[in-house]
Amino acid sequence: MTNTILQVKNLRKHFPVTKSFLERLISGETEFIRAVDGISFHMKKGEILSLVGESGSGKTTTGKLVLRLYKPTSGKILFKGRDITHLEGEELRSIRRHMQVIYQDPYASLNPRMKIGDIVKDPLEVHGIASGREAKEMVLDVLEEVGLSPSDRFYDLYPRNLSGGQRQRVAIARAMITKPEFVVADEPVSMIDVSLRASILELMLKFREELNLAYLFITHDLAVAKYISNRIAIMYLGKIVEKGPTEIMFSKPLHPYTRALMSAIPVPTLGGRRERLKLKGEIPSPINVPSGCRFHTRCPYAEDICIKKEPELVEVSSGHLVACHFYSS
Ligand SMILES: Nc1ncnc2c1ncn2[C@@H]1O[C@H](COP(=O)(O)OP(=O)(O)O)[C@@H](O)[C@H]1O
Ligand code: SF4
Ligand SMILES: [Mg+2]
Repeated sequence: MTNTILQVKNLRKHFPVTKSFLERLISGETEFIRAVDGISFHMKKGEILSLVGESGSGKTTTGKLVLRLYKPTSGKILFKGRDITHLEGEELRSIRRHMQVIYQDPYASLNPRMKIGDIVKDPLEVHGIASGREAKEMVLDVLEEVGLSPSDRFYDLYPRNLSGGQRQRVAIARAMITKPEFVVADEPVSMIDVSLRASILELMLKFREELNLAYLFITHDLAVAKYISNRIAIMYLGKIVEKGPTEIMFSKPLHPYTRALMSAIPVPTLGGRRERLKLKGEIPSPINVPSGCRFHTRCPYAEDICIKKEPELVEVSSGHLVACHFYSS
């Protein structure tokens, strides 16, 4: 258990739908957006777990929940064995020193009025780690480490003076300066020029080696997930539908949704022929989640049982779990 950094148990986040007075009067009850609807997973120290799924599947909400930027509706979050589900105030802040975040948009995530040096220094001051000359030295070191060299030149620049790739390096420097053990990276390369993505991912891997840190890596891009992760969890409409070691997820994807996401890879159908799986339609609204298997409205293999009964996530081989009636028995 000492090797475990994060445990998530049956976690839910339901957002109330904002309605006007008149709408409330007509419909009566409050409706909820079931953004995260009962997910469980664990992560080991130094591990990279990718959360993959279409837009709207609940990945960002999951990241914000485990960082406790949101209060969970129900379920449990344990960080290094400690229950942080309901932590508040100073206690929450002291835990946050060990958890950091890298966001998707390097243009929106850095304060345009602050100098690069001050942006990267901020977490040192917030957590009382260092100040003054010592803090400045630490900032200059980490700027060099992320490839913003010579660091004393970058120190006094503003975000507007930097390219998207350089800004994401600043965001990484800010995340790494407290030497975290756990980082949520939410689509960190989706807005970066394709030619620069590999170098940003390499930089993140370098910090993983140095700090033995674990990444919860959020992406809609399976190629990126394949490159960076040890394990992959596929999310659909607030649930994990399949998870397992990266090589098994690619060599033996089982859930029809996973296989559809990998539709570039020809897969055998249940009838034995080989063909490509295409997804029908759009992801349904998380306000009206389909009955039974929530994927049934888009699944080419759906049968009666799929509409009536929700499949559980069951282990089909070591560490490989899938939630589909046709693999669960
Ligand atoms: N703060 C919020 N308030 C209300 N609904 C939200 C909020 N954040 C996300 N949602 C909704 O929850 C669902 C999941 O969103 P999100 O976690 O951002 O998914 P993803 O990151 O996989 O695209 C979406 O339907 C989204 O509109
Ligand atoms: S349980 Fe049924 S609807 Fe759901 S993925 Fe499996 S076959 Fe498709
Ligand atoms: Mg998102």
